Amino acid sequence: MLNPFDIVIFGGGGDLALRKLLPAMYRAYQEGNLPEGSRVLPTVRAEEQKEQYLATAEQALQSHLSEGEYNAKDWQAFAQFLVPVVVNVTEADDNWDALKDILDADGEDKSRVFYLSLPPAVYGTCCELLSQKGLITDNSRVVVEKPIGYCGKSAEEINGKIAQFFDENQIFRIDHYLGKETVQNLMALRFANALFENLWDAKSIDNIQISISETVGLESRAGFYDKAGALRDMVQNHLLQLLCLVAMESPSKLNANSIRAEKLKVLEALRPLVGEDVDDNVVRGQYVPGDLNGKLVPGYLEELGEGSSTTETFVAIRAHIDNWRWAGVPFYLRTGKRMKKRCAEIVVEYKPVSHNVYGPSVGPIQPNRLEIRLQPEESIQLTLMSKRLDNLEMQLEPVTLNIELSQQYSKGFHSDAYKRLMLDAAANNPALFIHRDEVREAWQWIDPIIARWQEKGTPSLYRAGSWGPEAADELLEENNHAWFNVGEKA
Ligand code: BG6
Repeated sequence: MLNPFDIVIFGGGGDLALRKLLPAMYRAYQEGNLPEGSRVLPTVRAEEQKEQYLATAEQALQSHLSEGEYNAKDWQAFAQFLVPVVVNVTEADDNWDALKDILDADGEDKSRVFYLSLPPAVYGTCCELLSQKGLITDNSRVVVEKPIGYCGKSAEEINGKIAQFFDENQIFRIDHYLGKETVQNLMALRFANALFENLWDAKSIDNIQISISETVGLESRAGFYDKAGALRDMVQNHLLQLLCLVAMESPSKLNANSIRAEKLKVLEALRPLVGEDVDDNVVRGQYVPGDLNGKLVPGYLEELGEGSSTTETFVAIRAHIDNWRWAGVPFYLRTGKRMKKRCAEIVVEYKPVSHNVYGPSVGPIQPNRLEIRLQPEESIQLTLMSKRLDNLEMQLEPVTLNIELSQQYSKGFHSDAYKRLMLDAAANNPALFIHRDEVREAWQWIDPIIARWQEKGTPSLYRAGSWGPEAADELLEENNHAWFNVGEKA
């Protein structure tokens, strides 16, 4: 069991805190993983908000927990852990001293986590004030959210500023995808199964698709999203992290240093996409009004309330990893908002058999396929060719081994990545957090794509409720491949 800890949530009244961080801590409490003596200290800007905070928090839990999770008894008990405080992160006033007194009352050895649920522009000032006011102890850590920066240069500035006050091993950069149980299961699948260990390279695999499709649109984040777009919001972090876990070599140990070192090698081996490579290998899209599950939804510009914007809400990329293991294997990355279905999935398509002994009369022999569904309806499916047993003729057809993880672990499985990551930060376990070098390498690959887009072209349009622009299908057709879209026959 974890030792008691304090977690200060800067931006405690913000969207992330109310939607994700408080529910995560409440769940930790319900599961018995919030040690007695711990404190959750959300910061707000004014005394009045502080007085209202418990009511705000309760309301947030009621709206954002899943059905059946909220109950008044657990809330009453969880509320005892909550200590709202007033702090204005850009003002060096006495409120910081008051916060220091609260933390110091439990001694300097207690684990302190400073969670910056704030715009990256104020990370530096907040860290500086934490240092100036003497709140950072040896047992303190800072948690920062993605995306770090808007480009490589701004990310380096932010990381550099934080590094003035915290050592790299005290800086926990969150990518919540790494906290998903199914994402960690990727490593288990690869490194605990000889079957895949021997069939995980360019000799056996034809292509790999990594796709995160969402049905939501802008939600209430227009201000952030229109400046960021899907490339910065999803590809620079979530998709590249998934790519790393799929493509990396086996780490020598399952510790943070070994895992991060292997992920970094993948990012370093990504073939750069510069200038015309971007035109040829990257598709950007933006949704227009369309029918999503029988409901007409507005287009991006209507949601944004602007006449024009070139921000992409969809990206598809054909990437290559230039190393021995993956030579010649295309990795297709795709993400988009307002797509037909919500799904995060990795599809590994194997090469066809080297020689068809059957001839054409048995029907086409489809290559084997491994589908790893990360969410929702978490599952692993392996499609194999089989003889039809209901037919005297030799007829072959694809059959699927289906491991329904969400059913298998229906009890005790609640996919809450933030809970795991917050508890890991409290326990000083950085394995599922991103190293500064990874952020740098990821931006190095992304920056030239943004540069090209700024120079040339506009997003291709796609209807809300579709699988993205036609150009994304054409990208794969060039290699005789096609996207696997969940719920549609392959
Ligand atoms: C966030 C992005 O990091 O991930 C959002 O900022 C996106 O735009 C979200 O909707 C998706 O996360 P999940 O866990 O719902 O797939």
